[in-house]
Amino acid sequence: MSTDKNRKELLRKLSRNLMVSVPMMTVVAVAGFNAGSGSPLGLIPSAEAAQGEAEGEAKGEAEGEAKGEAEGSAKGEGEAEGKAEGEAEGEAEGEAEGEAEGEGVSASLKKAVRRPEGYTPYQGNVADLRAQGEKLFNDTSLSSNGLSCATCHANGAGYNATFKNEYPHTVAMGQRDFGMDMVHLDEMVQICMVAPMAAEPLGWGSEELAALTEYSRVEQKKFIDKQ
Ligand code: HEC
Repeated sequence: MSTDKNRKELLRKLSRNLMVSVPMMTVVAVAGFNAGSGSPLGLIPSAEAAQGEAEGEAKGEAEGEAKGEAEGSAKGEGEAEGKAEGEAEGEAEGEAEGEAEGEGVSASLKKAVRRPEGYTPYQGNVADLRAQGEKLFNDTSLSSNGLSCATCHANGAGYNATFKNEYPHTVAMGQRDFGMDMVHLDEMVQICMVAPMAAEPLGWGSEELAALTEYSRVEQKKFIDKQ
């Protein structure tokens, strides 16, 4: 039925991949060649990533084709039909993989940990917020799984080196699981609320969020001083 369409689509994709790959290889080669003379090294990772993607797509299609051919001949069907099946499979697999990559955390949770538009944090006395935050940090009733923040973070445990950086900054968990390149400290509190604590995010204007955020600043200072 759509054999012709599939084939055209495949050819279109392959030629597009080739067009992408060639300039990318050139960029990598040029960047590599100039590496000693102060060229912008930032080009290399993004070029490699783009090329990797293009190769990945091409590989999915090629595998699909090979598989389809084998199935086709095993069943004693015509080669043409076998190939068509392979192409269709290859594309379907590629798409499924692409979707699966972004899964894990739902879109609504990803949104819930980002500062909402027009957000004004709760304003209060800093010393009071810190004292309240320290209590909440040790409060297991905040989570749905019996953990408190301190279960993982007592005595400065569980943090990565990024915690030393001024906010907003990149945090691996935020980037990997929530697709955020930068996180503010209150967003980090919300990330730990919904992911490791398996709880609802705190209200954005709430005193609790302000308190945990303030107390996390104390934690950050201790973390920096300890290094
Ligand atoms: C099950 C363990 C666990 C619990 C419970 C937990 N966290 Fe975390 N938290 C982590 C891990 C793991 C990281 C390191 C994430 C990374 O660097 O990718 C982290 C990182 C952080 C960071 C620093 C991120 C940075 O590098 O800037 C803050 C702040 C933080 N957590 C606050 C909290 C607060 C507040 C709570 C309680 C509401 C909490 N965490 C509960 C595991 C936990």
